[in-house]
Amino acid sequence: MDMLHRPRRNRKNETVRSFHRETWLAPQHFMYPLFIHEGAADIPILSMPECSRLCVEGLFREVEASMKVGVKSFVLFPATPESKKTAGAEESYNPEGLVQRMLRELKSRFPEAVLVTDVALDPYSSAGHDGLVAPDGRILNDETVEILVKQAVSQAEAGADIIAPSDMMDGRVGAIRMGLDDAGFSEVSILSYTAKYASAFYGPFRDALDSAPKHGDKKTYQMDPANAREACRELYLDEEEGADMVMVKPAGPYLDVIRLLRDETTLPIAAYQVSGEYAMLQAACGNGWLEAERVIPESLVAIRRAGADVILTYFARKVATWMAEGRI
Ligand code: PBG
Repeated sequence: MDMLHRPRRNRKNETVRSFHRETWLAPQHFMYPLFIHEGAADIPILSMPECSRLCVEGLFREVEASMKVGVKSFVLFPATPESKKTAGAEESYNPEGLVQRMLRELKSRFPEAVLVTDVALDPYSSAGHDGLVAPDGRILNDETVEILVKQAVSQAEAGADIIAPSDMMDGRVGAIRMGLDDAGFSEVSILSYTAKYASAFYGPFRDALDSAPKHGDKKTYQMDPANAREACRELYLDEEEGADMVMVKPAGPYLDVIRLLRDETTLPIAAYQVSGEYAMLQAACGNGWLEAERVIPESLVAIRRAGADVILTYFARKVATWMAEGRI
């Protein structure tokens, strides 16, 4: 058969394929979210196979092992005992809080690690919401932002390199930027959860932290999964307010939103492959229905292809280890 164009010639072997491969996955593209708690032992998270709430020693072990395979950035998520949760979420800015203590420890043990902290009230709130709740159930915006600024400053004081507000309150990026600058932390970056959707894919995360809302849902502050234009509006506001990096969350089901923001901004883009995406892949791989070493990297390379620079993923250490061992 005469045929001028045979695209398969460019796929003939690995060397040829790698001439024109457009997207790469490497350990420096990962930020590794870790769950921490006050207890004396690691506690496995049932809906997130192979993830645990880490005790202090467990956290050090996980960070050390990850650094060895080139993962150098970590995001800390605390499980707060019920007894420390309050309506005002005061524990969020306690200088002796779990996150603040672990930041100081990690900074002294692993000075090259880049530490990222989540800013939102849900792990500390007796209502399980990211903001303060009024008696009629509304989530208060401006009052919440004041607390978020305190939380961000206390994390910066404890050694956070990057502050990541995940609360979706209006105006929080600008307020946090000013609060950090006023407190002398102009070098601390802000990674804004710019387009964070009101997603059912966060279920396992809320199991992990016991942080599900006690009443209602998060739809008055997190975005409607049906919307993309609104993500651009959030992007423009975050840029004006001084965000250094922007995030799309979840990642896999929102690849179009990642691409949209990629085309609209010069800022670095992060995407969060969330707990539900992790749980689905682990469930299928654990049952032998999907092949882990192929499908997990594919899920990540797709997120990079869509336009993300960095990926927050619970698979960070696993995939970086496969890379270090030359398995993928
Ligand atoms: C807290 C927060 C959540 C996640 C990250 N930060 C949960 C939520 O908004 O309810 C979810 C991460 C995941 O599912 O892996 N504001």
